[in-house]
Amino acid sequence: MFDRDPEGVRIELRALTKHYPGQPAPAVDNVNLVIPAGELVVFVGPSGCGKTTTMKMINRLVEPTSGEIRIGGQDVLSLHPDELRRHIGYAIQQVGLFPHQTVGQNIALVPKLLGWPADRIAARVEELLALVHLDPAMFRDRYPRQLSGGQQQRVGVARALAADPPVMLMDEPFGATDPITREHLQNEFVKLQKQLRKTIIFVTHDFEEAIKLGDRIAVLKDRSHIAQYDTPANILANPADDYVAGFIGQDATLKRLALLRVADVPQEEARPGRELPRIAADATLREALDLMVAHGTDRCGTPSGVLTYATLCAAVGSSAVAREEVVAGDR
Ligand SMILES: Nc1ncnc2c1ncn2[C@@H]1O[C@H](COP(=O)(O)OP(=O)(O)O)[C@@H](O)[C@H]1O
Ligand SMILES: [Mg+2]
Repeated sequence: MFDRDPEGVRIELRALTKHYPGQPAPAVDNVNLVIPAGELVVFVGPSGCGKTTTMKMINRLVEPTSGEIRIGGQDVLSLHPDELRRHIGYAIQQVGLFPHQTVGQNIALVPKLLGWPADRIAARVEELLALVHLDPAMFRDRYPRQLSGGQQQRVGVARALAADPPVMLMDEPFGATDPITREHLQNEFVKLQKQLRKTIIFVTHDFEEAIKLGDRIAVLKDRSHIAQYDTPANILANPADDYVAGFIGQDATLKRLALLRVADVPQEEARPGRELPRIAADATLREALDLMVAHGTDRCGTPSGVLTYATLCAAVGSSAVAREEVVAGDR
């Protein structure tokens, strides 16, 4: 199996096609894509464009009509589907927790199938609950109905990670939560993936979520045709066509600022005597801009010096981010 190494492995889709019986046209048509090992790739596109179908072919919940899927060089279609699925984490919007099993039992599902000894399973459940910020003592023995929607989704992510699979498929896993919980889960997930470096395919229809989470984004059109496949920064800077530009919307510059952190850009030497609003090194440039606007100043203090408005503009290659636009922009 491709998962002797729990680090991510490369995934290749070649001419991948799904034509559901009785449908006039294929739902997924001739998709070619390479997902590099250890990267998080987001599929973003409108409802019905074939995101879920593409993803479900990778763990063979849907059988491809034609084409090829390789994970870590191995031909997925030659493997037994049940065996394959035990080695791919899968998290979905509906969460899919078993209602009559406790949180702990739900998370232990795949390790149990794989025949892990009981003490190893118990330790893993403990570790995963802590990882997704649920106190094991408090949550291990609860039933799913005794959890909030956001807590259930964390358990869903923990379950997908249980057997430490090198590949994770996530289909709108935070989709059913309110905006605040969702943002929280996204932030935690970004941190988690920095440690885990799994190969993850993450499906969403939310472009903001895509740029926040993705190492790369595949912007999909009808039938999973790839309109653009690139890093968030490159897509924001150079959308391939009007379709992609439509996804980005009006405030591409602000979105690009949100991708950069204070520590990533040059800073000036601090001069004594002047009180400046302070910003952390790991804050985004968008947060720095918000702080400048709120204090009516064009600079703020950082742990290593001073960050200026001019530096923000230079960082996104803009000579004129109109300040009016910034003030009026959605924040
Ligand atoms: N089991 C199925 N049988 C027939 N058509 C399907 C089935 N599942 C999805 N489709 C159709 O395939 C297309 C892509 O659906 P889907 O992959 O679910 O898109 P998305 O996840 O992007 O919303 C849609 O037109 C949908 O109606
Ligand atoms: Mg879908």
